[in-house]
Amino acid sequence: MKIIKTANYDEMSRKAANIIAAQMILKPNSVLGLATGSSPVGTYKELIKKNQAGDIDFSDITTVNLDEYRGLPRDNDQSYYYFMNDNLFNHVNIDKSRTHVPNGMVADAEKECGDYEALIKELGGVDLQLLGLGHNGHIGFNEPSAEFDKVTHCVDLQESTIEANKRFFASIDDVPRQAYTMGIGTIMAAKKILVVVSGADKAEIVKKAFTGPVTPNVPASILQMHPDVTVVCDAEAYKMIEA
Ligand code: F6R
Repeated sequence: MKIIKTANYDEMSRKAANIIAAQMILKPNSVLGLATGSSPVGTYKELIKKNQAGDIDFSDITTVNLDEYRGLPRDNDQSYYYFMNDNLFNHVNIDKSRTHVPNGMVADAEKECGDYEALIKELGGVDLQLLGLGHNGHIGFNEPSAEFDKVTHCVDLQESTIEANKRFFASIDDVPRQAYTMGIGTIMAAKKILVVVSGADKAEIVKKAFTGPVTPNVPASILQMHPDVTVVCDAEAYKMIEA
């Protein structure tokens, strides 16, 4: 695992975008695994700039997103489908039919999750998976638990995650209680993994996840076992590693 420390969020975003751009240049038909949340927004802005400058081309790129809230319509502005269009896909030359987000409106969780897992396999797997890190160590919506979940599945969100995500909804009661998420096994099967983390509020979990014991209580700790992980971390989030 390589941890790159940056001065701030903007530098983190530029460095992460450069890593993704390099992947796209080296393999123009890459399958990119993408994340939502605050952490990758700056990275997506940088990718848009590079696309508009003609430095990267999305026309042969395929994307698969990590997760989606269960029961939230795609046109709801808090759905991850909406987020991806708004923050990236609407602004680059991607073929939208090659962008994939689990469909939270399919009520049959087993079917939707099974189909999503099969889709990733059919695509030949993920070349580069972008991740954020939850305060409780979750990646995707793989919450701390007694064991690592292997494949795409339906999860009950933990109170801390509902609390963290309420900022995006009118009230805490509007935050969905379940989500469909790639499993830890799905994420670990990606050829390369890139994690973006920023802010003092993530310092404790950064230290635990990336230097502590590997345990399903801290789902991101499994990334220590992956052969090709780069963490791009701002100084605030990095500070307990140095302490
Ligand atoms: C988003 C996702 C989550 C977030 C994590 C961090 O698709 O899967 O694991 O990456 O909750 O969220 P932010 O970046 O908002 O702190």
